[in-house]
Amino acid sequence: MPTIAEPQYCNVAVAEGLLKGANGHYKKTYEDLRGLYADEPAFEALLAERKGQVAYEVTSYTPGEKVSDLIMGVTRMEPGRVGDEFFLTRGHIHANGDRPEIYYGQSGTGIMQMESPEGEVRLVEVKPQGICYVPPYWIHRSVNTGTEDLVMMFAYPSDSGQDYGIIERSGGMKVRIVDDGNGGWKAVDNPDWTPRSAEDLAKIYVEEVA
Ligand SMILES: [Fe+2]
Repeated sequence: MPTIAEPQYCNVAVAEGLLKGANGHYKKTYEDLRGLYADEPAFEALLAERKGQVAYEVTSYTPGEKVSDLIMGVTRMEPGRVGDEFFLTRGHIHANGDRPEIYYGQSGTGIMQMESPEGEVRLVEVKPQGICYVPPYWIHRSVNTGTEDLVMMFAYPSDSGQDYGIIERSGGMKVRIVDDGNGGWKAVDNPDWTPRSAEDLAKIYVEEVA
């Protein structure tokens, strides 16, 4: 007989960008984001201004560690740019690559930036009351393209895990999201991006079987 877990009720505190009733909380400062942005001098200038400050934070409720459990939480990201590039999260692929995720917009506007292991790009705008479904195997990161905090609720299977190195190993994601000069955003190619090898792809997809 399975162990039947207790139900849990949490409140999305939209203005604070927090999940009340969470049992996990982590924060990323600007120092933690070194190396992610194209304009390194602009990043160092930002860092000098905002050393120790939080760039984004995540509060979450984890009921258990099994595939049949669901982690739910809230992410809050500050608005801003490094040079012309909008603030972003580190991004990852799920270590168990075949696990999906949903992101439900609460306040602010942003982009769910997704990239398949083969390098296909999908950019989905997330606004309040919109839900983005991130299917299995898509590398994903959030980008705040607005002028206020980007707050989203999310949920994914508890055993998904996160591989953050996949982005670093290919020289970043394939495109960067930058200011278009007209109050909007545009995607520009990242010249440092390198395709993943057949061996890398095999490692990602083998986890479907595991
Ligand atoms: Fe994820």
